[in-house]
Amino acid sequence: MKILITGSGGREHAIAWRLARDIGSENIFVAPGNAGTMQCAQNINCGYNDFEGLAKKIEELGINMVLVGPEEPLVNGFIEFLKADARFEKLLIVGPGKQGAMLEGSKDFAKQFMNKYGIPTAAHQTFEAHEEEKAAEFIHSLKSPYVLKADGLAAGKGVVIAETEEEALKHIHTVFHNHVFGDAGKKLVIEEFLDGIELSVFALTDGKNYVLLPSAKDYKRIGDGNTGPNTGGMGTVSPVPFANDEFMRKVVTRIVEPTIDGIAAEKMDYCGFVFIGIMNVKGEPYVIEYNVRLGDPETQVLMPRIGGSFTEILAAAALGNLENKTIELEKFTTLSIVLASKGYPGTYEKGIEIEFETEPNDLVFHAGTAKDGDKIVTSGGRVLAVVGKGNSIAEAMIWAYENAERIRFKGAYYRNDIGFDLMKYENI
Ligand code: AMP
Ligand code: GLY
Repeated sequence: MKILITGSGGREHAIAWRLARDIGSENIFVAPGNAGTMQCAQNINCGYNDFEGLAKKIEELGINMVLVGPEEPLVNGFIEFLKADARFEKLLIVGPGKQGAMLEGSKDFAKQFMNKYGIPTAAHQTFEAHEEEKAAEFIHSLKSPYVLKADGLAAGKGVVIAETEEEALKHIHTVFHNHVFGDAGKKLVIEEFLDGIELSVFALTDGKNYVLLPSAKDYKRIGDGNTGPNTGGMGTVSPVPFANDEFMRKVVTRIVEPTIDGIAAEKMDYCGFVFIGIMNVKGEPYVIEYNVRLGDPETQVLMPRIGGSFTEILAAAALGNLENKTIELEKFTTLSIVLASKGYPGTYEKGIEIEFETEPNDLVFHAGTAKDGDKIVTSGGRVLAVVGKGNSIAEAMIWAYENAERIRFKGAYYRNDIGFDLMKYENI
C-alpha cells in the first residue's frame, strides 16, 4: 500500500507519522509537505491545489490511496477530478466530493442542512447585500454579543463576534460594500451567541456508516486566558474531560447520527472526515460549524491516541465498509502546544533558524517549517506543535512544556495555559 497525503501543515505531518507506523515511511508521500513530513515520509514537490500535477504523481508513484488534508481542494472538486479519470478506478480516496464539502464551504448550506435534519444549532438567518436593512432588524432582535459569519471559505477569518449593535452594523456594511471577503462574503449568516465551552468531535464516514475518533479541545485565541485575536488553534487536549459518557451520548444521538443520516439521505459522495465544532451550553450540545477535514492542531493530539491499524480503517472507509468497524483508542491523554512566530496571527518574519534539543521519538509535529540547506527554518505563523502524553492532563502538560523549552527560535511564542481550565473536570 502506498499512500499520498495532500497538504503541508501539522495535521498532515501527524497523519503521515501515524500511517508510517502502520506501513513504513517508505510507503507514505506528502504533497507538498514540510521539513517535518520529510522525517516520516517522502515529500512530493507539488501543491495541493495542482490537480494535474497530483494526478501525474499518483500514476508515476503507483499510489493506492489518497487522503486530502485541507478543505480547499475538496470544495474545488478534487475528488470529482480524480474519479473522472479512468486510470484511478481502483484508487482509494479519503475526502468528500464537492457537495459534501459545501458543509464547510458554505455556512448557509450547512445551516440549511442542520435545519432539514433537526440538528441543534444557534438560531440564525442568512442575508445578501441588498438585504442590509433586514439584517439590521435581525440584529436588533438578538441580544449582544452578535455572531456574524461570512458564508464562504475565508481562511479562518470569516467569523466576527461583535459586542455592540453599532459594531455589528458596521461589519455588515463593510462586508457587503467593501467586499473584504470577496465571493465568500456575498452572504452573511448572522446568529445567536452560544455561551458555553467548545469541543471538536470527529467522525470518519463512508457516506452511510461512521466511526468516531477521539474528541479534542482547541484553544483558538492567541493569548493566555483566551484573550486576543482568533488563530487557527494554539493548543489542544484529548480526550476532553467534560465530554463524559452522558454528554457524548447526546452528541451522538442528536448530532453525529442525524448528520451521517443526512449525508446518506442527500446521496452525498462522502468518504472522509466530518469535524463537528460543538458548543456545550449547560450540558446541551449545539453545532457551531462543520468542517470536512481533520482539525489542526487537533490531529496532532488525535493520531497518537489511535491504536490498531489506522490504514485499515481508512481503506475500509474508502471501500464503503465501515459497518461494524471501531477505532481502538489509547487511554492516555495528549496535549499539544503550538509554537508560533512572533507577530502571528498578524504579520511575521519567515526563514528564522530553529534549534531542536528534543529526541527523535518526541512528538514534535511541524507546520510552518522548511529546509534551508541543512538548517530547518520557520516558514509560517504556526511553526510547530509539541505533544506530551500522560495519564492525566497535568502529566501530558509537563511533558509538552518541557519539550517546548527544548526548541528554540528567535521570537518563538506559545500560550502558557493550555489544558489548565480542563483539569477541574478530570475524574468527574
Ligand atoms: P467558526 O469558524 O464557525 O468555527 O467560528 C469561529 C469561532 O467563533 C468558533 O470556534 C467559536 O469560538 C466562535 N463562534 C462561532 N459561532 C458561535 C456562536 N454561535 N456562539 C458563540 N461563539 C461562536
Ligand atoms: N483548529 C481548528 C481547525 O482546524 O479548524
